[in-house]
Amino acid sequence: MTAKPKVWVSRPLFPDVLARLAEHFDVEAEAVEHRHAADELRKKLAGVDAAVVGLADRVDGAVLEGNQRLKVLANLGVGYNNLDLDALTRAGILASNTPEVLTESVADFAWALMLAAGRRVGAAERWLRAGHWPGSNMRFDDWLGLDIHGRTLGILGMGRIGQGIARRAFGFDMRVLYHNRSRLPEAMERECHATLVRKDELLRQSDFLVLVLPFTPENRHAIGAPELAQMKRSAVLVNVARGGIVDDAALAAALREGRLAAAGLDVFEGEPSVHPDLLSLDNVVLSPHIASASEETRRAMANLAVDNVIAAMGFGESAGKPPTPLNPAVMNRWATSKA
Ligand code: DGY
Repeated sequence: MTAKPKVWVSRPLFPDVLARLAEHFDVEAEAVEHRHAADELRKKLAGVDAAVVGLADRVDGAVLEGNQRLKVLANLGVGYNNLDLDALTRAGILASNTPEVLTESVADFAWALMLAAGRRVGAAERWLRAGHWPGSNMRFDDWLGLDIHGRTLGILGMGRIGQGIARRAFGFDMRVLYHNRSRLPEAMERECHATLVRKDELLRQSDFLVLVLPFTPENRHAIGAPELAQMKRSAVLVNVARGGIVDDAALAAALREGRLAAAGLDVFEGEPSVHPDLLSLDNVVLSPHIASASEETRRAMANLAVDNVIAAMGFGESAGKPPTPLNPAVMNRWATSKA
């Protein structure tokens, strides 16, 4: 009997999803969350045929150096700035991500942050839990927040998630503006009730500005001190994209000095550390990168990553046709270069 190919799963995953892998592979799955250093990652990836990795695993040329065995690397996330796709392609390794399945959950969560930051939900809850609520003596003009309905929503990055956020704005009677590298088809703009504007206009006009753009070197600090200075003092900034798109130190200064009303952040520069100034401010709602973390969606992401591994490794009904590959052309080279 020939040995099964080997798969490494870098983070704990749902047992039933791991069981799907175990039908075809010898599976080594991490039982606890743990950040893998480059050296450890290199060793793990050198000893397996396929791997499922998370956003904290940075797979670059150095990690792949000398790797003769790895064929498939499935990323648990739609964003893949943790992967050096060119290096993977050069090494003949198929990479995949998890688009679509998380779109609606992340759009929901962007709204959760908009509402929570605008209406000061986090700070009010902390205040209540601390026993400060004086009941009927509470001032009538205390805890005033910002209305969301009827305001202008700005979306920076109008991919699938941005469109999902825009569609939800109809129910809140909001005007929707967006800025994107390319204009949406007219039918899509109509469906989203969204109007394309220049980035400076978006910054100036938005009451709520949501960031949903991919993290690329060009997008580093797309929102820094100069951009924050163009925003309304009454505006709310929400980031569900990636840390590093916002200059967190500049954002903390703007929030502290009242140059921006509030923020809702799910992602941070250098996460899991969070800029200490953000931690000390009450006008920012902070969450630990959980925008896609609903029961159904995290399961769907895990299953999609596993679908990619199973199909790309030639098993199952879709053998040879992984559903969401990032560099599908590498598979053409396998026949000659990888057994
Ligand atoms: C992604 O998929 O890129 C999200 O950030 C994961 O939650």
